[in-house]
Amino acid sequence: MSSEPNRSQESSSPLFAAIYDPATVFFERTFLRPHREFLVADLDGTVLDLGAGTGAMFLYFDGVAAATEFHATEPDPHMRRQAAEKAKTLATPIRIESSPAEALPYEDATFDVVIASMVFCTIPDIESAMSEIARVLKPGGELRFFEHVVDDRWRARVQSALEPLWKRLAGGCHLTRQTGSQLVADRSFDVVEIERLNLGVTPIRPFVRGRLRKRAASATR
Ligand SMILES: C[S@@+](CC[C@H](N)C(=O)[O-])C[C@H]1O[C@@H](n2cnc3c(N)ncnc32)[C@H](O)[C@@H]1O
Repeated sequence: MSSEPNRSQESSSPLFAAIYDPATVFFERTFLRPHREFLVADLDGTVLDLGAGTGAMFLYFDGVAAATEFHATEPDPHMRRQAAEKAKTLATPIRIESSPAEALPYEDATFDVVIASMVFCTIPDIESAMSEIARVLKPGGELRFFEHVVDDRWRARVQSALEPLWKRLAGGCHLTRQTGSQLVADRSFDVVEIERLNLGVTPIRPFVRGRLRKRAASATR
């Protein structure tokens, strides 16, 4: 694994990492499965799981084509340790790096697919992360995402009120991001599909999921 960048040390959240799997097991069982399956549907080529956390996506990688090569990043050392443990139990080798999404340790045009599952809520600098994702994707490659975003009306007010405390407890997670509109506005990508999903429980509700395709021409951001 690569060396620890300073930014990852700042974002270390041992308590959040310790409770993440037990706290999400109910949601994994009740509604997350079809959306994780959406992220891995017909995967082929070289794949990056961005901000892999405890490795919740890894279980889904085991079932896909043998020709696929998997990489993951996770800057929090406590999350990354759990992801590495999960990776060891799988038939699919997964190489995990510690770098944040804003400074990816890969060559240009390395990946066919980048997967972002509930990670843009936490990335401090989304614009830099998108620039890096565009750089490491091959032309025509896909960014697939599943993200919780700000809700409407009273639910949005609840999210705003909770956000300062939530960020401290949940490893820097923002409740009021407009990730869907931010991602589709990125001129390095064309929108293949995007959908708002009224699922989840306030304050983690609603979600957007979708696919963006990296434009073949050089980045126009
Ligand atoms: C809510 S967890 C989601 C984990 C996993 N993707 C999943 O689907 O369960 C968000 C993850 O983003 C990671 N993260 C925080 N800052 C990041 C950054 N700058 N770049 C990449 N990942 C980051 C956190 O450490 C955390 O593991």
